[in-house]
Amino acid sequence: MLDIAPPASLVECVDPEPMAPGLTDRTARNFPVQLSIIVPTYNESANLKELTARVVAALGDVAWEMIIVDDDSPDRTAAKARQLSLSDHRVRVIRRIGRRGLSSACIEGMLSSSAPFLAVMDGDLQHDPALLPNMLHIMRSEATDIVIASRHVDGGSLGDWSEQRVSISRFATQLARRIAAVEISDPMSGYFMLQRKIVDDHVHNFTGTGFKILLDIVLSCKGHLRISEVPLVFGIRSHGESKLSINVCWEYLMLLVDKTIGRILPSRFVAFGLIGSFGVVIHMTILSLLVMVAGMGFLPAQTLATASAIAANFTTNNLLTYADRSLKGWRWLGGLASFAIICGVGALANIGVANLLFGQHTSWPLAALAGIVASAVWNYGVSARYTWGVMR
Ligand code: GDD
Ligand code: MN
Repeated sequence: MLDIAPPASLVECVDPEPMAPGLTDRTARNFPVQLSIIVPTYNESANLKELTARVVAALGDVAWEMIIVDDDSPDRTAAKARQLSLSDHRVRVIRRIGRRGLSSACIEGMLSSSAPFLAVMDGDLQHDPALLPNMLHIMRSEATDIVIASRHVDGGSLGDWSEQRVSISRFATQLARRIAAVEISDPMSGYFMLQRKIVDDHVHNFTGTGFKILLDIVLSCKGHLRISEVPLVFGIRSHGESKLSINVCWEYLMLLVDKTIGRILPSRFVAFGLIGSFGVVIHMTILSLLVMVAGMGFLPAQTLATASAIAANFTTNNLLTYADRSLKGWRWLGGLASFAIICGVGALANIGVANLLFGQHTSWPLAALAGIVASAVWNYGVSARYTWGVMR
């Protein structure tokens, strides 16, 4: 008899997770899938079983699937999710390697689905799955493109957030209203459902950076969405911790830049320019300390100040502007060297352009400004390509 079993190396040796209460295999009834629930995760292994059980309980006979998009979490969330999917095929997993980001994870999850309705929800149980049936009902029965679970409509609330977190959220919401003229009650929400057509039609405009996938979608569709809202009481996180960080706040600002002036100035260039101006402050501070406090001569002090400003600019750009492709270890050192060389050439360009214009009777402040712009454009364009390897 022919042995047709696959070689042992091809068989994934994972024990299926014992079924959560109410979990049954509904292969026959689950197609075609109507609703894909996209769940971005980073270190959520302790929450997934409960989340799946609550989705199962909430959705009853709806043909749904859950797509967990995990960024290679150190707590092995992806492995946990695969265990769950062995006992319920409606759970799928995408494990992304070498990348981070809630928004980009959601976009990849949405693109991997063929269902007519897509939902996005957090994997830490702070978004109550019990809202899903009503959201789906609204999507089906009203002329709606997107249903948002909002904490700022009657019946919704922020839950037990700290005062600091409440202020950050309020400030971010105000920024979205004033800068980007967003009119929905809770543009910061991470829990919503939408027609897949919206994604198909607008995905090329999505920015995909940071945490604010809803705001990204709403701004990318430029006011053409028919929006409904349902109240959300933000739940309590019982396992793991929030990934909100300074970096996430910065990414939020960059999303707003991209969605407002992004067509004229790329958000990376704005970040690079801001950090460059900060470098001038560092330069002047170090220079004055060395000359006035340490009594150093101008030339060595200016040299040290220049080197420090370049190193500070490189480090900050590497952490913020290029957070998605941060250089580490030896590559960090190589990056610093290339950045210093590029900035050296940039300084020559600065002097050359300014001198040329000054020689043609341009006023000295204007000539100097033109020199600065020329070197900024050079430094940005060339370091993007050669220091951080951005190809386009
Ligand atoms: N794949 C992936 N990659 N998932 C991530 C990442 C990441 O880099 N960072 C966070 N997540 C996942 C978390 O594991 C969780 O499932 C979900 O995204 C939300 O992250 P939290 O860290 O729990 O965020 P939060 O509770 O502070 O903020 C949430 O609520 C806010 C208010 O509604 C988020 O949904 C925010 O977007 C939202 O504004
Ligand atoms: Mn959370």
